[in-house]
Amino acid sequence: MRSLGVRIYGDDVLRKKGEPVEEFDEALAGLIRGMVETMIVEEGVGLAAPQVGVSRQVAVVNPEPDNPDTLVALVNPRIVSCSDRTACVEEGCLSVPGVRGKVTRPAEIEVEYQDEGGERRRLKAEGLVSRIIQHEIDHLNGVLFVDRISLGARALVRGKLRELARHDRQG
Ligand code: CO
Repeated sequence: MRSLGVRIYGDDVLRKKGEPVEEFDEALAGLIRGMVETMIVEEGVGLAAPQVGVSRQVAVVNPEPDNPDTLVALVNPRIVSCSDRTACVEEGCLSVPGVRGKVTRPAEIEVEYQDEGGERRRLKAEGLVSRIIQHEIDHLNGVLFVDRISLGARALVRGKLRELARHDRQG
C-alpha cells in the first residue's frame, strides 16, 4: 500500500469545489482504491479527493481503522437533513498537520450519496461517523475545519497556518 501524497494547507486545490462524478468507471474505482490506501497509510479516519489533488466529489471514511467493515466510499454526497442538536468536538485534518480545534456541528445527519457503482444510497449517522462525513463534505466544497473554529482559536493557530502555507508554496 502506498500514499498518493496529501495536499497541505495553502494548496489551491483544497479551496476548490469538487466536480460531480458522472462516470462510474474503472478510473473512479482506481481513485477510490488509491484514497483508501492513502487514508490507511496516513492513519486518517477520512479523506476527500481534493486532499490527493483530485477536484472531485468523492470521499472515503473509516471511523474504526481496525475494522474494515466501517469503511465507506461516498460519491456525490450531500446532507439531506441534520439535527438541531449540535456537538462541539476537537478536530484535526491530514491537510492541516499540527493543528487541532473545536468545531460545532449538527450531532446527527442524514446523507444521500452514490456508491462506487453509481447506486443511490442513504445513510443516517451520529457521533464520530457524522462528524467525519461533515468534515469530508466540507472538503468537497473547499471548506477546511480551521474555517469553522472560533476567532480566538484561529488567532492562536494563525502563525502555524502561515507556516504551512509557506511550506506548501516552496514545494
Ligand atoms: Co480534513
